[in-house]
Amino acid sequence: MNRMKMIIDVDTGVDDALAISYILANPDIELLGVSTTFGNVSVDQSVRNSLLILENFRRFDVPVYRGCDHSWVTERYERHPHLDIVHGRNGIGNVDLGEPQGKPQRQHAVDFIVESARKYGKDLHLVFVGPLTNLAECLKKDEEAICSVGNITIMGGALTVRGNRNIYSEANIGGDPAAANYVFESRAHLNIVPLDATLKALFNADDIRQWPAINQAGKNIYEIARFYYIGEYDEKTGGAMHDPLAAYASYDPSIITNWFACNLTVEDTGRMIGTFEQLNRPEKRHRVALDVDAQRFTQNYVDMVSRLIEKAG
Ligand code: BDR
Ligand code: CA
Repeated sequence: MNRMKMIIDVDTGVDDALAISYILANPDIELLGVSTTFGNVSVDQSVRNSLLILENFRRFDVPVYRGCDHSWVTERYERHPHLDIVHGRNGIGNVDLGEPQGKPQRQHAVDFIVESARKYGKDLHLVFVGPLTNLAECLKKDEEAICSVGNITIMGGALTVRGNRNIYSEANIGGDPAAANYVFESRAHLNIVPLDATLKALFNADDIRQWPAINQAGKNIYEIARFYYIGEYDEKTGGAMHDPLAAYASYDPSIITNWFACNLTVEDTGRMIGTFEQLNRPEKRHRVALDVDAQRFTQNYVDMVSRLIEKAG
């Protein structure tokens, strides 16, 4: 059977690491590569963390690409101090996984994504779970190729709930509002998985308590995840699985129980919003995840990643 080809674009923080783990764990997905951007951490730290997570599961074969290092609206990347609390100083919950054995590819992430879109077209799924700078650059380069892929799923935005960057803005969209606006105004059809859905997809230490006993790979990923629950909420409530839900919804959109079809734009403030003119357009290019079957998601996620951990031992 042909496996679904996927590329994930990450700013590897904790939930990005958990999203990479899910893609590796799903036997129906072939991860062609991990492309990286700034956000939770600098792009260089994102490269490093992505390599370390792949290597934790002995996936030395998956290439990692370095992408854009700052947003269209800033001259350089500056890390918000609050990120130390949510993702740890190193982005992966202050867990020390040593030095990665592998190195990033020489090719730029944007060129890799465009080349893959030209090569695989509808067989390729693209998932973006950081600021949208790399995607915007891809669309600038070859909009037709990017629009030809099977689906483009992004984690970002807050439509009916408050933002997490400020009251209106979510971190990924607000991390580069100009690039996000370019993406939203392009011809690309987008599956948008915002906070509205991801804040309902929580998992906590109880869900994964078996991981550390399996092997070192399980202990590592457990410690990374655990840091995040405590930082974001608490150990009992759990942490929001923002990026894993986007990856999951790219593979299986039926996990989202309410997709809202619309056309959205992004304001300079980072607010994702529909405009009157757009609401009346007959063609809806965006569908936004408003609700999720959280129980099925968490159960499947934990089962699959548990098997991945067992294989790494
Ligand atoms: C998004 O921002 C980052 O902190 C997470 O990795 C996720 O992609 C949630 O707003
Ligand atoms: Ca992310």
